Amino acid sequence: MKKLLSRFEEGWDKRSIVFTLFRLGCNLTRGFFHRIFFKSSKGWLLLVGKNALIRQSNYLSVGKEFIAEDHCEINCLSKRGIVFGDRVTIGKYALIRPTGMYGGEIGEGLKVGNNSNIGPFAYIGCSGYIEIGNNVMISPRVSIYAENHNFSSILEPMKDQGVTRQFVIIEDDCWITANSVILAGVRIGRGSIVAAGSVVTKDVPPYSIVGGVPAKVIGNRAEQFVNQ
Ligand SMILES: CC(C)(COP(=O)(O)OP(=O)(O)OC[C@H]1O[C@@H](n2cnc3c(N)ncnc32)[C@H](O)[C@@H]1OP(=O)(O)O)[C@@H](O)C(=O)NCCC(=O)NCCS
Repeated sequence: MKKLLSRFEEGWDKRSIVFTLFRLGCNLTRGFFHRIFFKSSKGWLLLVGKNALIRQSNYLSVGKEFIAEDHCEINCLSKRGIVFGDRVTIGKYALIRPTGMYGGEIGEGLKVGNNSNIGPFAYIGCSGYIEIGNNVMISPRVSIYAENHNFSSILEPMKDQGVTRQFVIIEDDCWITANSVILAGVRIGRGSIVAAGSVVTKDVPPYSIVGGVPAKVIGNRAEQFVNQ
């Protein structure tokens, strides 16, 4: 209890603390019941928010201290499953979708390492395999697409030409900032930052800062560090 209360720093009034603890209790209770249906779960401390939808959760493995915030939707039916490491948070209204809702080919899935978070309103289309490393921060409204529609023929609708699935890899310690879009087949190197509103179409070298549409290198964290 002491440890729990120590999270509330100066400025928290009693009423806010009580309501926050009450909400934690509700989310913990929901987490307790959801956990029963997961493929595996390392710990008992799981928080599942109000109206969070976790479908086909027998394909979901979670580590310790998993948090699914209010209204997020995690669809789990996939070839490799959805695997979350320890202390992973899925933000409000985030949507994780490996496979179509009403049939179609089963998608590949998603793996997220330890201490990583997916921000509010994110869209993670993991029909191709998406791997997110440890200590990765994904800010609000980021979209990641591991699939493209085929469009080589002009004689038939693109809708009927199928899709090509590819991986997306985000290595450890990256920050993918607000409103950016990561396209299929891209690897984002360790320690990189994707600036707000960027569209990443190519691999990003380690420790780079990339920005713009399409995203280009605008800085290098390693050089900045050496020059400090
Ligand atoms: C990437 C970021 C951290 C860089 O911050 P910074 O080091 O202070 O960068 P600066 O503002 O000094 O800009 C450096 C250069 O990058 C450019 N740049 C910065 N952000 C950019 C962006 N989003 N897209 C394109 N170019 C950008 C600047 O125009 C500048 O170019 P110049 O040298 O030609 O003038 C910041 O721009 C950013 O995108 N922050 C994200 C905020 C966010 O999403 N927060 C969510 C918190 S959960």
